This record gives sequence, C-alpha cells and structure tokens, in this order.
Amino acid sequence: MPALRVAVAGATGNIGARTATALERAGHDVVRISRSLGVDLTTGDGLDAALTGVDAVVDATSHEATDRDETVAFFAVTTRNLLTAEARAGVRHHVLLTIVGVHRIEGNAHYAGKREQERLVADGPVPWTVVPFTQFHDFAATVVSWTEQGGVATIAPLLVQPIAPSDVADVLAEIATGTPQGHYRDVAGPEPQDLVDMARRTNDARGHTVELVPTWSSIFGTEMAGDVLLPGDGARIAPTTFDEWLAGPQ
Ligand SMILES: NC(=O)c1ccc[n+]([C@@H]2O[C@H](COP(=O)([O-])OP(=O)(O)OC[C@H]3O[C@@H](n4cnc5c(N)ncnc54)[C@H](OP(=O)(O)O)[C@@H]3O)[C@@H](O)[C@H]2O)c1
Repeated sequence: MPALRVAVAGATGNIGARTATALERAGHDVVRISRSLGVDLTTGDGLDAALTGVDAVVDATSHEATDRDETVAFFAVTTRNLLTAEARAGVRHHVLLTIVGVHRIEGNAHYAGKREQERLVADGPVPWTVVPFTQFHDFAATVVSWTEQGGVATIAPLLVQPIAPSDVADVLAEIATGTPQGHYRDVAGPEPQDLVDMARRTNDARGHTVELVPTWSSIFGTEMAGDVLLPGDGARIAPTTFDEWLAGPQ
C-alpha cells in the first residue's frame, strides 16, 4: 500500500496517540492535531495548515463535561470545523471513533454529543466511516477517578465487553488507510466484564486502595443496565483480553 498522509485529531489523547503511532509503524505520514500542539478544533485555528496534503482524518478527540448542551455544542462545533476544513483541503476519508450503544441510551450527555457528531459526519461533505467501539480496558479506572473522594468511589455495575486501547488504535489505523465504509460494525474486546469487578482488579494490579460502592445512583443510571452496552451481532472482536492488558504495560 502506498504511504498516505493521515491527520489524527486528538493525537495527544489515549487513543489518538496510539493511533498516530500505529499509522507511523505501518509507514504512513502522520499529522498530529490537538490544542496543545497548536490546532484548536473549536476555533479552527491552525486547521487549514495542518490539513494540507492530508488524505484521511481520524477524529479521536474527546471532551469531559456533564452538561448536555455544552457537550453537544463541543462535538457539533469541532466536527463542523473539521469537516469544512477537510472539504477545502480535498481530504478523501473521515473516520470517526464513536461508542457502541449511543443510540440506545438517551440521558447521557457525552452520548448525546457523540450522536450529534455521528449525524454531522453522515450528512457531511467528506466520505466517511463511523466506527463504534465498546468501553476501553482502562474505562473502569477512569470512572473511579471521576468519583473517588476520601478513599471511596461510587461505580455502576455496567455490563461491558471492553477492548484494549492498542487494539482500538490498530483498527482505526487500518480503517483510515482503506476506503470509506459508512457505518462500520461494532468493534469489541473478546469477553464480557462487570465494571465494578474491572475496577477492583485494576486497583489491585496498580496497588491502589479504594473502597468501591456499586450503585446506579451516581454517574450512570439504570438506562445503562442490561445488554445496552454490548456489541451487536456480527461485531468485530479484537484479541487482547482484560487480563492480558492488566498484566502488561498500561
Ligand atoms: N473511554 C471509553 O471507554 C470510550 C469507548 C468508546 C469510544 N470512546 C471515545 O473515544 C474518543 C477518544 O477518547 P480518549 O479517552 O482517547 O480521549 P482523551 O484521552 O481525553 O483525548 C482527547 C484528545 O482530544 C484533544 N482535544 C480536546 N479538545 C480539542 C480541541 N478543541 N481541539 C483539538 N483537540 C482537542 C485533546 O488534546 P488537547 O487537550 O491538547 O486539545 C486530546 O488529544 C472519545 O470521543 C470517546 O467518546 C471512549
């Protein structure tokens, strides 16, 4: 395959950084986009220069907020700015990292933002692939960090089928260097897990002592109970188990 020039938006983030590395390992040129690298998708500053000569863009940006309107506005503005600049630059493929189940769960602010992002990409001017992933292997630790106070953290017993961040990056790098596919099938890890159990095992592996309180009355409510976060039929299953990830460098 000839080398492509691929821009990764959110390239300093958990998945963006790994995707940039995976693309370079496969011999492609990578343009890294993030505010700390001088490109702001909210204002568009630096974007036209960054996209010069770019063939494909992976959007792996994120925004941590609990306010629904603010979250939807962030994803709408950044996605519009990115797609408009891509159309100007002649980018031929926009790849969006999204989440399995966002269309089944109404109340979550982040999910509302991701639905808006998906809608704009599907209606947008650049040929696209939207790729839904399940929760990442480090998601339990992230959720604990949101609520931990005085050695106690609340966490919902979500049923998930988590995936290793490096596997997410490999899939995104592969898709970005192929042809646009529209809505891609769900991508998940190999085994279902309970989020509370994942948090306990992550804390044990990291020597982090925290009392976990399982509850549906904290960040996640019961609309996220049951099978809603699990991948659909025909999902692509990535190889790395949660235990393999826990045992390795994180
Ligand atoms: N966590 C999960 O389990 C999970 C599962 C499935 C899908 N996802 C999705 O995966 C995506 C990536 O998540 P992540 O955890 O890898 O994110 P992350 O580590 O929080 O990284 C976010 C990235 O976005 C950049 N960014 C934020 N605002 C920006 C702006 N205005 N302009 C340019 N860059 C900006 C950040 O860099 P600067 O701060 O330097 O700007 C950073 O590089 C998210 O969209 C999330 O919905 C997450």
